[in-house]
Amino acid sequence: MATIRLGDVAPNFTAQSSEGQINFHDWLGDGWGILFSHPADYTPVCTTELGTVAKYKSEFDKRNVKVVALSVDGVESHKGWINDINETQNTTVNFPIIADEDRKVSELYDMIHPNADSKLTVRSVFVIDPDKKVKLIITYPASTGRNFDELLRVIDSLQLTAYHKVATPANWNNGDDCVIVPAVADKDIPELFPKGHKVVKPYLRTTPQPNLD
Ligand code: BEZ
Repeated sequence: MATIRLGDVAPNFTAQSSEGQINFHDWLGDGWGILFSHPADYTPVCTTELGTVAKYKSEFDKRNVKVVALSVDGVESHKGWINDINETQNTTVNFPIIADEDRKVSELYDMIHPNADSKLTVRSVFVIDPDKKVKLIITYPASTGRNFDELLRVIDSLQLTAYHKVATPANWNNGDDCVIVPAVADKDIPELFPKGHKVVKPYLRTTPQPNLD
């Protein structure tokens, strides 16, 4: 198991899923992707998480993000559980769930943390950009369901900062002012940021979000 760090190419793999065999890189295509693990099928928090992800499909589509889940349960288990998710969460699961029974992918992505649980995956999240580079890694314990609004918020920041010389400050949300990255010289600001800017300190310069009309 190699440690995966931000900026690394997301390791490729081929695995079975609830929607058939997936070659991860081929499946990602040239868009963004999220690979996220959950501890086990037929568990309450995971049921709410996967139902929530299904309901957010239009938000992921808007951002050109494909989503794939993973646990160490098998395909038949996933398929049975999907019926429960659809029924109880009032949705239709619209993304594949990888069946990592041999833990090949979990080990490749270091999703089993033995001091938390020797057998089950923790709640890992990997966001992958169109170059297949890992842009975000978050790990939650089994006891804490993820906040998928936060995930959308980070994706907005990642997609904004990939194309503009800005970073997003604490608690930023789409539409808020951004900070101009330190590498931008003062003299270049008017051309790069025609909407205007403020100099709070020489190292803290803000501008309206550049990718909005
Ligand atoms: C759950 O998804 O509810 C869960 C899974 C494993 C441990 C604790 C909770």
